Amino acid sequence: MKVLVLGANGQLGSDIVRLWHDPGVTVIAATRAEADVTDANAVEALVRNHEPDVVINTTAFHNLPVAEQDPETCFRVNVVGGRNVARAAKAVGAAIVQISTDYVFDGEKRTPYLEEDSRRALNIYGAAKIATEDVVRQANPEWTIVRVSGLYGLAGSAGKGGNFVETMLRLAHEGKPIRVVSDQVSSPTNTAEIAEALLPIVRDGRRGVFHLAAGEGCSWYTFAGRIFERRGLSPDFAPTTTAEFGAPLARPMYSVLGTTRAPALSHWSVGLERYLREKGHAAL
Ligand SMILES: NC(=O)c1ccc[n+]([C@@H]2O[C@H](COP(=O)([O-])OP(=O)(O)OC[C@H]3O[C@@H](n4cnc5c(N)ncnc54)[C@H](OP(=O)(O)O)[C@@H]3O)[C@@H](O)[C@H]2O)c1
Repeated sequence: MKVLVLGANGQLGSDIVRLWHDPGVTVIAATRAEADVTDANAVEALVRNHEPDVVINTTAFHNLPVAEQDPETCFRVNVVGGRNVARAAKAVGAAIVQISTDYVFDGEKRTPYLEEDSRRALNIYGAAKIATEDVVRQANPEWTIVRVSGLYGLAGSAGKGGNFVETMLRLAHEGKPIRVVSDQVSSPTNTAEIAEALLPIVRDGRRGVFHLAAGEGCSWYTFAGRIFERRGLSPDFAPTTTAEFGAPLARPMYSVLGTTRAPALSHWSVGLERYLREKGHAAL
């Protein structure tokens, strides 16, 4: 089986390329340099050139504040880009695996969101990802949608300037007061764990929607606290609320992902421990 990964230098894309070692699966890595997903002709040429069995689209425009200011770019990269990839895959008889997000949900639920729960986005990015899911389904009957949450990976996200773990460690070393929201609960997930859980889904040709996220949820405050604890750091660190923080952007206050279809991932603390070890931030 030949699998073409778009967004191969991103957090999730690079972990798929790094961690998939299956004798039956050949992984081909593609970055923006090979094809910008908004360019339908370039995407089609890339896919035709490799003739994969499966195309995984990990690309995204997911800088949320910028998306509110520039919805056109957010929709062009996510929705038009997702459609371009799904169509190009169909043209060569390949399946599409589209990565999506917990932000398709509104956070009103207080138990983990399951694959079949109804979607209602609170911001431009979430709305664009709902539309992406829909156009991908329309464009290619062989579709798989994988929703993930709160990603951090060794590569760091170029589009977001790193990841939450690195930001917390940097702030702690700078000695500044750190205030982190304790009222937003999600599933911070190490992309390595997602990459490994995704392999059997792709290899077995499973179709439909899957949630792949760390077991149990936590607030960003709890997550940050564990980072500092494991690194033996004691910064000036306290909880805040979304209202106090004054964030202008609406976000779901609860977006923990559960699943009835996918393999359960380890507890979030296990993924964090692995990240700190692999990144060389040895636990103290
Ligand atoms: N990060 C999160 O917390 C989070 C949470 C939930 C869901 N997700 C979803 O998970 C997926 C992977 O996220 P991630 O954190 O791994 O992302 P990431 O590290 O930011 O990587 C995204 C990749 O997309 C590429 N890209 C962006 N625009 C492109 C374009 N127009 N054409 C071609 N490539 C383009 C980027 O290339 P460059 O490096 O060249 O910019 C980058 O390699 C995305 O679908 C995202 O929506 C992420």
